[in-house]
Amino acid sequence: MLHSIRKWKRRDFLRNGFLATAGSVLGFKAINPGIAAPAIRTNKFKPVAISSGNGLAATEKAMEIVLNGGDCLDAAVAGVKIQEDDPDDTSVGYGGLPNERGIVQLDASVMYGPTHRAGAVAVLENIRYASEVAKLVMERTKRVLVVGKGAFEFARMHGFKEENLLTERARQLWQYWVENRSRFDDFLTPLEDIENIPEQLKYHLEHGGTINLNVLDTSRNLGGCTTTSGLAFKMPGRVGDSPIIGAGLYVDNEYGAAGSTGRGEANLQTCASFLVVEEMGRGSSPTDACLSVCRRIIERTRVSYLWRDGKPAFNVNFYAINRNGDFGSASILSGTRYAVNDGNGSRFVDAAYLYERE
Ligand code: GLY
Repeated sequence: MLHSIRKWKRRDFLRNGFLATAGSVLGFKAINPGIAAPAIRTNKFKPVAISSGNGLAATEKAMEIVLNGGDCLDAAVAGVKIQEDDPDDTSVGYGGLPNERGIVQLDASVMYGPTHRAGAVAVLENIRYASEVAKLVMERTKRVLVVGKGAFEFARMHGFKEENLLTERARQLWQYWVENRSRFDDFLTPLEDIENIPEQLKYHLEHGGTINLNVLDTSRNLGGCTTTSGLAFKMPGRVGDSPIIGAGLYVDNEYGAAGSTGRGEANLQTCASFLVVEEMGRGSSPTDACLSVCRRIIERTRVSYLWRDGKPAFNVNFYAINRNGDFGSASILSGTRYAVNDGNGSRFVDAAYLYERE
């Protein structure tokens, strides 16, 4: 963090120096570009890391970093990278389930409270650490969202390794999905396989994936990251909520941080993570803010295929911290747990919910 502040100052100095020189040559007065310095807080504060149910190790890592004086966003990215590396997490990074053509396409975003800046990538192929690339978009460009080939080239420019992210397990699950998609297509599956839907695939399709991690550090600064391989077997180019600031992630250093996993389209249609943070800003507890946005999503969901027997046939989960270090989570459907570490080790906690899962 100190390193990046030093870089900021150097850059401001260079820019002001350049404007002053150009001004005297061209005969105009240099105007201060008015770059606001990041809000730096230094008092020691009790840190918290909150994450989705696949984030137990991530919260542990994030807490270790902030307890050693590290920065909230560095901690968030270091935490989620554990899942991006994990071939058994079929919802994130390496080992993530591919799109309908068998290509792994990643989405990720970061947001940093002290500067209120954000970075994101979408439809990123062949680069494992979408979270780190998103952070570099924030730090090393004037942009917020970079997609597709441009995101890949940006990552390569920064030295990221190009690699095939489709593991053998993810390929098998994809093949199974293709072969069982329709009676009317070209493919056949051995009969015994049809009854025997791989448990991992069933679990993934019912529960989804993605990791969101939000961190409050000892300087009382907030940072968050959401990273995913997105909806399993999605149409090529589909982008969910994870890389969209305000939908899959939002951080406001004065109010709190929130992120989401689950059906991305529901969050895109309601600016859901932004709304969670706004509700906390109006005084709601993190859990109440998450529940309130779950209710809003339900009230606005009018598409028939998303309802079954009067109940939602999809799920969305939120994870939130306010600036005082209170945390909470809620889902539309029961059975979701989240991971949290408030300095006493990482643990799972059951999320609040609106409806019992069938
Ligand atoms: N929430 C992740 C996605 O919908 O892609």
